[in-house]
Amino acid sequence: MDKHSSPSGHSSDTSNETLTDRQGHPITDNQNVRTVGSRGPTTLENYHFLEKITHFDRERIPERVVHARGAGAHGVFEAYGTAGNEPVSKYTRARLFQEKGKQTPVFVRFSTVIHGGHSPETLRDPRGFAVKFYTEDGNWDLVGNNLKIFFIRDPLKFPDMVHAFKPDPLTNAQDMERFFDFVSLSPEATHMVTFLFSPWGIPANYRQMQGSGVNTYKWVNQDGKGVLIKYHWEPLKQGIRNLLQKDASEIQGQNFNHATLDLYHAIEQGDYPEWELCVQVMEDGEHPELDFDPLDPTKLWPQDQFPFLPVGKMTLNRNPEDYFNEVEQAAFGTGVLVDGLDFSDDKLLQGRTFSYSDTQRHRVGANYLQLPVNAPKNRVATNQSGGQMQYKVDRAPGQNPHVNYEPSSLGGLTEAQPRGKEHEPMVEGRLVREKIERTNDFGQAGDTYRAFEDWERDELISNMVGALAQCKPDIRERMISYFTQADADYGRRVAEGLAAVSTDDSETVQPKHDPGVEQAEKRSRETD
Ligand code: HEM
Repeated sequence: MDKHSSPSGHSSDTSNETLTDRQGHPITDNQNVRTVGSRGPTTLENYHFLEKITHFDRERIPERVVHARGAGAHGVFEAYGTAGNEPVSKYTRARLFQEKGKQTPVFVRFSTVIHGGHSPETLRDPRGFAVKFYTEDGNWDLVGNNLKIFFIRDPLKFPDMVHAFKPDPLTNAQDMERFFDFVSLSPEATHMVTFLFSPWGIPANYRQMQGSGVNTYKWVNQDGKGVLIKYHWEPLKQGIRNLLQKDASEIQGQNFNHATLDLYHAIEQGDYPEWELCVQVMEDGEHPELDFDPLDPTKLWPQDQFPFLPVGKMTLNRNPEDYFNEVEQAAFGTGVLVDGLDFSDDKLLQGRTFSYSDTQRHRVGANYLQLPVNAPKNRVATNQSGGQMQYKVDRAPGQNPHVNYEPSSLGGLTEAQPRGKEHEPMVEGRLVREKIERTNDFGQAGDTYRAFEDWERDELISNMVGALAQCKPDIRERMISYFTQADADYGRRVAEGLAAVSTDDSETVQPKHDPGVEQAEKRSRETD
């Protein structure tokens, strides 16, 4: 590592640059406030002091309501020009994929989901895997997770789910009883918790994990034909590695920033992590022959029927120069697509698409898209202007500065020509509040349980028993019933594990000083 690359930012270089304030005034004394005599009082016209302290008072912006803890890196995506053995143009006209070897710059932010900005990176939690592609047609954000499925399928449930998973509003500690209270009344989460409580719920770091778009998207070709698409990132040379709970606890005892530092050091040392982007393709339609709905994000698409087709490779090769500028203020959203990519009717995806830019206007500000990490690298020319922190007008060269509206005959901006036929799916139906018909909440959870290796199943049972032991009996019963419907052996082993824990009062499943756990155990003893 060279002297500039120390994570602590220390360098042996000495700088002769003088300090200024933000008005450009040189600072001659940065150690002493101005006072009446050496013992004070301080005076209010201390411009340098007031500017320094008031800016400090505003150093934080609201953290992300979920995925607050993260790490980021820049890199490049290189297209293969093909999707498996076919030219990619058969399925999509998106320009970034067409030409073999075509490079598109990217920025990636990895994250954990539930806890705050400086929480340990060893926690059992999905990991975020958000990629911003700065394409010639504008930005495309692929906002995914490491796991390929999700807890819920209806966006109306998301705020409740996050409340149940986040710390208790009274104790401010996460509580497995609140977590499983929600999950045990949301049977569609059975598949996701089967992954989450297995070793796949704690990836070893951010480099050695997969990524997935989770939701079902569409690709649209030149003729306007759409196909359903799932996206997957597969780690290349660095491989996949997950942690046992005991290994994670050991790492956490020594270093709770291990994943951020692992990514930073790998990139500084030139050991650039790489992922292959694969897609699964399905004809657009309802597919009544499948035992699941293709728009259901709690389901995997079986790989024997829908093989992974590689479409390109991503390499992360540059660390951010400033964490706050590039990682904290980065704003990704599922609505950010380019020509040739489209939404499906996946309800969760549509709910997400409203939520991201809404929260970012609150979290970063109305002009968040003008920040360098968020701004596209191609030309931007809009008639939108004003708002807090605008610092430039997105005007095209030669545009009449008097014309900030469209249409106009006075030299304003004009509409672009469509690059291909519009994708115009037919939509018809009664306006209802209803679940999808093929919920099949347990079938794939059972498949996943059986697909695990023995050690992964053992770890799943041990972690699940440890968590459910903190819950009231009716919550445990509901979860055991779901596991049994998924796979009889799964249900039996969790039930036996819980029976063994409750007969041994001395067994502790969490540190005793966690107030959330103490409360849960007390309630559980009272109802036992
Ligand atoms: C972040 C909403 C489901 C992946 C966020 C944020 C919100 C949100 C409000 C904070 C964004 C910010 O402050 O910039 C939702 C809603 C969902 C949902 C309403 C369901 C209805 C999902 C799913 C995935 C996912 C299914 C995985 C595919 C992410 C990631 C981030 C994030 C990776 C962090 C992005 C970053 O690094 O800045 N989500 N989310 N979310 N979400 Fe979701």
